[in-house]
Amino acid sequence: MSLDKNSTVAVIGAGTMGTGIAQIASTFGHRVHLFDINKEQLEQSEDGLVKILNRQVEKERMTQDEVDGILKRITFTGNLNSIEGSNFVIEAIVENLDIKQNTFQKIEELVDEKAILASNTSSLSIASISSALEHPERFLGIHFFNPAPLMKLVEIIPGISTSSQSEMSARNLIDAWGKTTVQAKDTPGFIVNRVARPFYGEALRIYEEGVADHATIDWAMKELGGFKMGPFELMDLIGHDVNYKVTESVFKEFYYDPRFKPSFAQKRLVEAGRLGRKSGIGFYSYGENADNIEPTKDKELGENILNRILAMLINEAADAVFMNVASVEDVDLAMTNGVNYPKGLLKWADEIGIETVYHWMNTLQVEYREDRYRPNPLLKRKYKNEETFYGDI
Ligand code: NAI
Repeated sequence: MSLDKNSTVAVIGAGTMGTGIAQIASTFGHRVHLFDINKEQLEQSEDGLVKILNRQVEKERMTQDEVDGILKRITFTGNLNSIEGSNFVIEAIVENLDIKQNTFQKIEELVDEKAILASNTSSLSIASISSALEHPERFLGIHFFNPAPLMKLVEIIPGISTSSQSEMSARNLIDAWGKTTVQAKDTPGFIVNRVARPFYGEALRIYEEGVADHATIDWAMKELGGFKMGPFELMDLIGHDVNYKVTESVFKEFYYDPRFKPSFAQKRLVEAGRLGRKSGIGFYSYGENADNIEPTKDKELGENILNRILAMLINEAADAVFMNVASVEDVDLAMTNGVNYPKGLLKWADEIGIETVYHWMNTLQVEYREDRYRPNPLLKRKYKNEETFYGDI
């Protein structure tokens, strides 16, 4: 079925993501049912949303009428039955397969078989959730980024059973909500959480080898690479517990491919409770008496660091295309819109020159003899055939 403004949207889970998604849907004009099993969470969600929207009025980005309308269209509910008859259901509850499957079985009893159902899961496969559904053809992954109302990117992930019609309806609607959608294959980490791994992983490896300290690596990536945040600042912000868990899950899901190997340095931080900003200390210390080291601003060292991490990122982006996870354009859109990279990685590769990037990867592989550094076959092919990713440079 096609979805439009008149479609009723149900959001399951009123946590960080669910609240944001409900805000987007209601802002567009849908009637929204926002369900959570936890009453306190529902209250927190409503209070939080009121605060965010009031701030928009104060900053004159929205009128009071608009804000009243958004809030009026959302029903915060602790009763799942109230989603009955909804046309589009997005689930954003705890990341647990059994609980998600169980919840979708209940949802299927409440909506008609034409309703479209989606999960915002980051790490479970769409196929695994869909196996519990009576009508898996109308189910897909719709992966938002945090904070959902601000981040433009949404990954659309059709599962093995998703019909093209359901995918198209869902994608058209998310586009109409003003988001930038990209299509990803149902593989671990989808696009962003897969391609971004070396940003953290290779930075940690460089740090562990003692090539440079965390402040210097961050400086190189920001100052010379143009990234908004360095990998260590970003890991401190995300939280090492969260970042480590994603890395570990991607590593396991890829059958322990050494490209995705987690790092002991990060594991030790998690074990010690040094989770980053939220616990006052991670790689950096925070707060009044914070005493942090200064970077070594050595241009040659910085360039070596940047080139090594960039080579690994481009190699990973090439792999996502090589393995048909996503198109060249979608991989670049995903990284610039989902994690604010200064440039699409494959466009960047074209600009640097495929030969140079291939040479960086090859040098790493020759030096380390580790499978982690194997140049991607697509990168190698492009180099050998003197081709670029975009073909027009
Ligand atoms: P959260 O912990 O903030 O919220 C989860 C909510 O689900 C809680 O309010 C909890 O009470 C509720 N819940 C738990 N079991 C439930 C059930 N059976 N029925 C209804 N509500 C239930 O989690 P967050 O961060 O919002 O994540 C939700 C989902 O979104 C997860 O699948 C996560 O992997 C995914 N996600 C998270 C992102 C993030 O940066 N936090 C980014 C993209 C996806």
